Amino acid sequence: MEKTLVIIKPCAIQRSLIGKVIHRFERKGLQICGMKMMQLSDEILMEHYAHLAQRSFFKRIKDSMMITPVIVCCLKGIDAVNIVHAMAGKTNGREAAQGTIRGDFSMSVQENIVHTSDTVENAEMELKRFFSDDEIFEFDQFGLNFLYASDEI
Ligand code: PPS
Repeated sequence: MEKTLVIIKPCAIQRSLIGKVIHRFERKGLQICGMKMMQLSDEILMEHYAHLAQRSFFKRIKDSMMITPVIVCCLKGIDAVNIVHAMAGKTNGREAAQGTIRGDFSMSVQENIVHTSDTVENAEMELKRFFSDDEIFEFDQFGLNFLYASDEI
């Protein structure tokens, strides 16, 4: 099974959307195997958004991610990386399809509710960035045989 990272951004915290966002992942059948509130620093954001360092909005997006603490989640399931990324929807909330998290809750490309890992490699790297090993838990998921067929797990 794959694990992936979700960051519930300050815009969602301020709009009291934490529960609504987490509920979507739970009802899909993803297992929450790590979750915590943390205040991001410029240092960790420099690393996390390093690929955006040359973009005009680099400082602005870093600042927006430090306005309040965020919630970081580790979600587990078969194909979790692609599933969770698809559930977030297109980056720009105005373009994201209805039914996706951004399509339903966001009007913005920056204030777009969640960050989700986009590849398996990035998920592994990003989970290490935000969680220590003892903050990610391995435990049996109740009702697994009602979420998946026996040949899928
Ligand atoms: S990009 O531009 O191709 O790198 O786009 P994308 O990979 O989809 O987005 C990466 C993150 O950059 C944020 N972003 C922006 N923030 C502010 N202004 C503008 N114009 C902008 N464009 C992209 C976007 O919210 C993504 O943040 P995360 O946290 O990764 O979702």
